[in-house]
Amino acid sequence: MCGIVAYVGNKEAYPILIKGLQRLAYRGYDSAGIAIGNGDLHIYKKKGKVQNLNEYAKDIVESGTIGVAHTRWATHGEPNDVNAHPHTSTNGRLAIVHNGIIENYAPIKKELIKRGHSFESDTDTEVLIHLIEEIQKIEKVPIEEAVRLALHSVVGAYAIVVISQDEPDKLVAARKSSPLVIGLGEDEFLVASDATPIVEYTKNVIYLNDEEIAVVDRKKGLSIKNIENQEVTPYVQELEIQLEKLEKGGYEHFMLKEIHEQDNSIIDCLRGRLLPQDGIISMSGFTEIEKRLVNAKRLIFVACGTSWHAGLVGEYLFEDLARIPVEVEYASEFRYRNPVINEDDVIIAISQSGETADTLAAIRLAKEKGATVFGIVNVVGSTIARESHVGAYTHAGPEIGVASTKAFTTQLTVLTMMALKLAKKRNTISNEQYQSYIQALTNIPQLLKDTLKVEEKIKYIADEFKDVHNFLYLGRGYNFPIALEGALKLKEISYIHAEGYPAAEMKHGPIALIDEQMPVVVMATNESAYEKIISNIQEVKARKGRIIAITTHKDQIIQDIADYVISIPETLEALMPLLSVVPLQLLAYHIAVLRDCNVDQPRNLAKSVTVE
Ligand code: G6P
Repeated sequence: MCGIVAYVGNKEAYPILIKGLQRLAYRGYDSAGIAIGNGDLHIYKKKGKVQNLNEYAKDIVESGTIGVAHTRWATHGEPNDVNAHPHTSTNGRLAIVHNGIIENYAPIKKELIKRGHSFESDTDTEVLIHLIEEIQKIEKVPIEEAVRLALHSVVGAYAIVVISQDEPDKLVAARKSSPLVIGLGEDEFLVASDATPIVEYTKNVIYLNDEEIAVVDRKKGLSIKNIENQEVTPYVQELEIQLEKLEKGGYEHFMLKEIHEQDNSIIDCLRGRLLPQDGIISMSGFTEIEKRLVNAKRLIFVACGTSWHAGLVGEYLFEDLARIPVEVEYASEFRYRNPVINEDDVIIAISQSGETADTLAAIRLAKEKGATVFGIVNVVGSTIARESHVGAYTHAGPEIGVASTKAFTTQLTVLTMMALKLAKKRNTISNEQYQSYIQALTNIPQLLKDTLKVEEKIKYIADEFKDVHNFLYLGRGYNFPIALEGALKLKEISYIHAEGYPAAEMKHGPIALIDEQMPVVVMATNESAYEKIISNIQEVKARKGRIIAITTHKDQIIQDIADYVISIPETLEALMPLLSVVPLQLLAYHIAVLRDCNVDQPRNLAKSVTVE
């Protein structure tokens, strides 16, 4: 969380930085700020979104060809103008933007106060720039050396960029646990939290590694050292992001665009892997650790948020098809409860951003214990992708809306392919079953496209329910994680309280909440538990709850007993989540729009959660 962008070159820095911040706004949008260098440092900061900053600064901003910028997701100190980044040193000659948390900021601050420093903000970041200033004053070293020495005293996570009035051609960037990418343009450099602000200027990038410090100097070029002061040879990579994928393309919101892109993102995810003509699934990451996967005693999924829900679907898939025990762990809990991890465990980390701090920490722990880590990640080159032993990209393309949609369905697609491959290798499904799954998976993009046709009906239902205070989502089997995901989507973007529950578990608690006010979304697409779901629906109806049922076109019974029916195409039960989540995404979206909520940037959330 928090987005950083910085520029040094020959162009005006401000427009590049503002545009970059707009691209990174999904990472946090409590406040934003910019420092422009032109001999002096000029700082502009505003509470609220990047747009607020731009309205305030655009007519008064000084000209300059070097600068740093930041969009904030508050950790230390409320979102206001003062706590917004950049933060400056006492003499105002240094400024910093920071993503992460300096955990030991309090003792450092105390010491600095003793030495005469005073602080304006409540942030941990301001302490770091004062520490750098203090070290520079005492050691009389260039700014990059002061940064390096300061970082030795710091506990926590950081991606930082520092700018100095006294060294006006250079920026100093460093990272530990929070991402930073350096773009190498012609006579110019960009530094950013991800590649999206960089892609229109250059395709050549370097992903900084933990505890590396980079200097980008418009006269001397790039140099990287590690925190121990050893030179590092940079590894330049080429970006594959398409610029148009970063635009809304005619849709009102990124989230709606991304919901509608899902048929194509699944095609991209399947491309080169699902080969129906040969009757095979080809996945190089899988093949690389095939023996370990086949012989693993169990699989452990670690993830957060929507990716955790994908992991839950994964549990059903792998246990059902490949008959291998699976545990699904919240990454945030995993390492704090002294988990039992064995060398023959395979850890499957699922993450859209590839930067989620808790998921990253979980895989580092698993690696320490000797387990093999397989990463299912969307953002190419991200930290989890690089730190996993092997993996598979989801190829969903950039996902900008904070509420995850197409990343989820592509995660499910990868998990399905992996479960099928493993089932085949472990001989837990017959060849005919395997082939029928391959065929069904081939048909999913078209079926998903057909599923999107429910949108008009959903708009109508959204209008009926936009003012309620609570929602319940019920599902069984493969649809239980989808009920959780539907509830999460609604909470995230419409701020309506919603709970997902296993349908049969309802009678152990949530049934007490049901009255004529309570909408209950029932996932009723499972063939195997169809009658049982009908009983659950009757239980809700007997208490006057209002049923919104998601059924398949095959349904004959539920359409007569539910208050509202959303009928979607049918596929094999194990693949149904790929379709059944779509109406829930649309329902959350349309309710949020009718409630006038900021769909793409819901309050208090950020897309990439790089703090614990
Ligand atoms: C945040 C986002 C969610 C996402 C979760 C995990 O909470 O708002 O949409 O599911 O982080 O993120 P990851 O990038 O690891 O999938």
